[in-house]
Amino acid sequence: MKKLCLLGLFVSLASQSVLADNLPAPIENKDAFISNLMKQMTLEEKIGQLRLISIGPEMPREMIRKEIAAGNIGGTFNSITRDENRPMQDAAMRSRLKIPMFFAYDVIHGHRTIFPIPLALASSWDMDAIYHSGRIAAQEAAADSLDITFAPMVDISRDPRWGRTSEGFGEDTYLVSRIAGVMVKAFQGNGANAADSIMASVKHFALYGAVEGGRDYNTVDMSPVKMYQDYLPPYRAAIDAGAGGVMVALNSINGVPATANTWLMHDLLRKEWGFKGLAVSDHGAIFELIKHGVARDGREAAKLAIKAGIDMSMNDSLYGKELPGLLKSGEIEQSDIDNAVREVLAAKYDMGLFKDPYLRIGKAEDDPADTYAESRLHRADARDVARRSLVLLENRNQTLPLKKSAKIALVGPLAKAPIDMMGSWAAAGRPAQSVTLFDGMTRALGAESKLVYARGANITGDKKVLDYLNFLNFDAPEVVDDPRPAQVLIDEAVKAAKDADVVVAAVGESRGMSHESSSRTELNIPASQRELIKALKATGKPLVLVLMNGRPLSLLEEQQQADAILETWFSGTEGGNAIADVLFGDYNPSGKLPITFPRSVGQIPTYYNHLSIGRPFTPGKPGNYTSQYFDDITGPLYPFGYGLSYTEFSLSDMALSSTTLNKTGKLDASVTLENTGKRDGETVVQLYIQDVTGSIIRPVKELKNFRKVMLKAGEKKVIHFTITEDDLKFFNAQLQYAAEPGKFNVQIGLDSQDVKQQSFELL
Ligand code: BGC
Repeated sequence: MKKLCLLGLFVSLASQSVLADNLPAPIENKDAFISNLMKQMTLEEKIGQLRLISIGPEMPREMIRKEIAAGNIGGTFNSITRDENRPMQDAAMRSRLKIPMFFAYDVIHGHRTIFPIPLALASSWDMDAIYHSGRIAAQEAAADSLDITFAPMVDISRDPRWGRTSEGFGEDTYLVSRIAGVMVKAFQGNGANAADSIMASVKHFALYGAVEGGRDYNTVDMSPVKMYQDYLPPYRAAIDAGAGGVMVALNSINGVPATANTWLMHDLLRKEWGFKGLAVSDHGAIFELIKHGVARDGREAAKLAIKAGIDMSMNDSLYGKELPGLLKSGEIEQSDIDNAVREVLAAKYDMGLFKDPYLRIGKAEDDPADTYAESRLHRADARDVARRSLVLLENRNQTLPLKKSAKIALVGPLAKAPIDMMGSWAAAGRPAQSVTLFDGMTRALGAESKLVYARGANITGDKKVLDYLNFLNFDAPEVVDDPRPAQVLIDEAVKAAKDADVVVAAVGESRGMSHESSSRTELNIPASQRELIKALKATGKPLVLVLMNGRPLSLLEEQQQADAILETWFSGTEGGNAIADVLFGDYNPSGKLPITFPRSVGQIPTYYNHLSIGRPFTPGKPGNYTSQYFDDITGPLYPFGYGLSYTEFSLSDMALSSTTLNKTGKLDASVTLENTGKRDGETVVQLYIQDVTGSIIRPVKELKNFRKVMLKAGEKKVIHFTITEDDLKFFNAQLQYAAEPGKFNVQIGLDSQDVKQQSFELL
């Protein structure tokens, strides 16, 4: 009896500690603190913690606050300002146990200052720049009271038909894994409990990028070796870097939806990888278990999800509705609920919210007078990161850089497109604050500007596509359509082109074309814009294409028509300035493709690191019975790792320090990089390795390291890479991760195709 009373005292002290500044001991001991708190919680309060709700403008705030005060909500997403979130946290502090709320958001590539889309960030191959973008995003989000982001998105994507290709970091396991770790560290800074950090919640676990046919939400069927070798490492890298959360994918994996997948969530994530954090479902995913056809009804869906270890349910009410009954009937155990609650509370603890529920909300008197104030943006940083992410694909006759004295015709539906410039998942970015290409070029040219603008074409002439794009976005038609006939638009642009020295055409996709639920069957630039390009080409004027798009496009015709092509993706708030910097040569482009550009949709998949085959196609040796499509050239339009510069680089004298490597030894691979051109510039030296013979078939090559190097004009540098046994390991048929003795080819190049090669033997 006495023991019980003491326990009661201890527990009530612990609950007081939620608010107190002078904390009693238990809060310092995370496990004890959470256990004590859980002992005081009713079943309803526990289930309340598992509920994550989306806050829309139309939602009744008063009712939400009442629910929070009753202990029925654990966190929100989409409420993104301090004055919006403070009353909700106040409500939580009025609840019986004063358990703080957390506030989440999709901070994917910037918060208020929008950085280039993730695919573009990856194109920079610049880990410092990527880190910097993530750190600023975290600081801005934290300053707006946010505690956690649903990012990074590290789904490997090898099928550019998938609209979410834009949101990931490309096709390569090594590159995406490196970036995954960098982004987690950037978001979480000195710890997810720091006032200027947000917790990272890596997504979409797992294999979402491999949806069949690139059609969003479709099924995934994949061999275990391929999963372990190619698709799982980026999630693992994010978790090893300390990601506090995981968002579970909407897709199924080999017949079992991720949301109900005990192998995925228990055996792999928790047991094999030792993940200790929060698992959040994706939007409505528990309910969708019924549609997947693995749950009869909501009750069974809730049971499958909680049993699989889905801690928080995003935006469906099934846990609240069904868990009490499931518990009563014995279909689930108290420990199923408790484990989930423990993870939610632990995440809140790790975000620093038990010590200070207002850690990121701050005091009302410190709220920014204007949430959208210019002074809150990080423009210089965004511009710098953006220009590092641009990829020069073509530059015939040194069409670029442009002379500022030239008379330039700027045309195309994306030249004045502030919304598109930000790309999809643009968090709290405001179109009015984004610099369009027109703005950027006009500013760069200053008073002497001889720039003439004509729209030239609409994004699409297909009404159905237009309606779809505008339906997808709630903030009123984001794809604006010029009602004039297509020919009138083209004629106007052609007239401007004829009067100019050079034509710059900003063409590609609207941002909504590369988004969630925006899978495409074609990868070309829409027909309305292709007509424009054709007409511009016919003027005979030098033609520069500035591409904006969120996925590789098939550019066969355009590659022939254009004199220069600059891939700019969707480059963010400062996109227009960054692109102008490159167009006018104030910055020498250094980006490299993080994903292969196919020649046509029919070639997909075209990822560079495919497995060896028995009848490979040999370039230059046409013949039947080799692996090829006979009706087109075999190979990509632009390979992985490709990108030009305004200067030229050459590689020579590749050498290995030895022809053998011991299991515990090191090998040095070196190459001389020379800037043989007339300008200073940066490039990316890439190291690929091929395991020539293995117990199972190995890829033709795999990226294993890279270095971004700046060289002055005429400068030479020897670049060294260290190779150890670790670089040679892979998952064999038994899923053991080990290297096998034998021959390895080492390739060094400035892209994945044009490489120097040397070999060694692993002893
Ligand atoms: C997406 C997630 C996102 C969530 C919340 C879902 O539709 O798949 O990536 O985090 O919405 O916005």
